[in-house]
Amino acid sequence: MTRTSPFHDIRACVFDAYGTLLDVNAAAARCRDALGDKAGPLAELWRAKQLQYTWLSSLMGRHRDFYEITAMALDFAMDTLDLHARDLRDKLMALYEILDAYPEVPGMLDTLNRAGMKTAILSNGSPKMLATAVQAAGLENSLNEVISIEDAGIYKPSPSVYQLAVDQLGVAREHICFVSSNGWDATGAAAFGFQVAWVNRSGQKPETLGFPPKAEIKDLTGLAGLVLPTP
Ligand code: LAC
Repeated sequence: MTRTSPFHDIRACVFDAYGTLLDVNAAAARCRDALGDKAGPLAELWRAKQLQYTWLSSLMGRHRDFYEITAMALDFAMDTLDLHARDLRDKLMALYEILDAYPEVPGMLDTLNRAGMKTAILSNGSPKMLATAVQAAGLENSLNEVISIEDAGIYKPSPSVYQLAVDQLGVAREHICFVSSNGWDATGAAAFGFQVAWVNRSGQKPETLGFPPKAEIKDLTGLAGLVLPTP
């Protein structure tokens, strides 16, 4: 952990899914035999383009669901890297639906649940993608709610997306700890008024747009210790 200030009276923890609970690089990593040294660049470009397309579709007022966006971003990334095998494309999309959870995730959710903390996912993922992913990762009994931005029809970081968590959990924004590995999502959530933990898994520099997170952590191992009241 590099930086932290105290969390106050947290009543629910709301998690981003892709990159925070689920390893977005796992799909390309599992195709390393076919991708060779393009596995890393493909994962990076796929993710970057996927996020750009969420912001573009939101700003254009032309919403497409996250499965479509993910497929379109993969097509762009494969084309850029001169990868043209249709079966590889289909395999990568299928693997994206069943990403691994990071290893510390089940234990962390278990600790929060046993302490009576409400837990939820709030993700760009479509309801079907999230249902499949949560089940594949074995997290279906570990979360009170799995909330998709599809209910708002616009992507993060629109405030109307973060409001979904407030409404569906019945917890005021200032009592919610929002947890994301995406610096831009952490910024949006802090601007909305959540108390934010930024999971800086890949050693990124902090965003400079204002609205800093309360805590920066390397992974989710120490989260419960930050948000649960000291006994
Ligand atoms: C999500 C993306 C932003 O799960 O990681 O919402």
